[in-house]
Amino acid sequence: MNDETAAAGNILVLNGPNLNLLGTREPAVYGSSTLEDVQELAAAAARSFGFSVEFLQSNHEGVLVDALHAARTTAAGIVINAGAYTHTSVAIRDALAGISLPAVEVHISNVHKREEFRHFSYLSAVVDVVIAGAGIHGYELAINYLASALRH
Ligand code: DQA
Repeated sequence: MNDETAAAGNILVLNGPNLNLLGTREPAVYGSSTLEDVQELAAAAARSFGFSVEFLQSNHEGVLVDALHAARTTAAGIVINAGAYTHTSVAIRDALAGISLPAVEVHISNVHKREEFRHFSYLSAVVDVVIAGAGIHGYELAINYLASALRH
């Protein structure tokens, strides 16, 4: 398999700050599943469509920007839960806009039912799909969308 073929079958699943604490972090809001559970769920969903997953979590904005740049040659699509950077980061928005890959923004919680500062997302205008409030199932839905979009 050459690099281009590998990239064509790969989905980058990117998680931002504090998502490493899933499972213990505010369980009433985010549930009891861990980030490892999310990774397994995402990998299984991708596998069922013949795709693979590259999974990354970082608490650092620049690392997330670098991962999006790298995805230009390693991935065919992006699932991103940028955590709090969703509401603050022009840099992540510009990176998503700059790489022109199909992308889905995921939030475990329904951000629109929560504090007003969570209602605005810098990312929503530059992604294809936004999923919020489906719990970790949202990652599965995102992969489902990307797999069918990438096939057609
Ligand atoms: C989140 C929602 C954000 O507002 C919050 O800062 C997060 C997680 C979610 O998955 O529901 O860290 O993106």
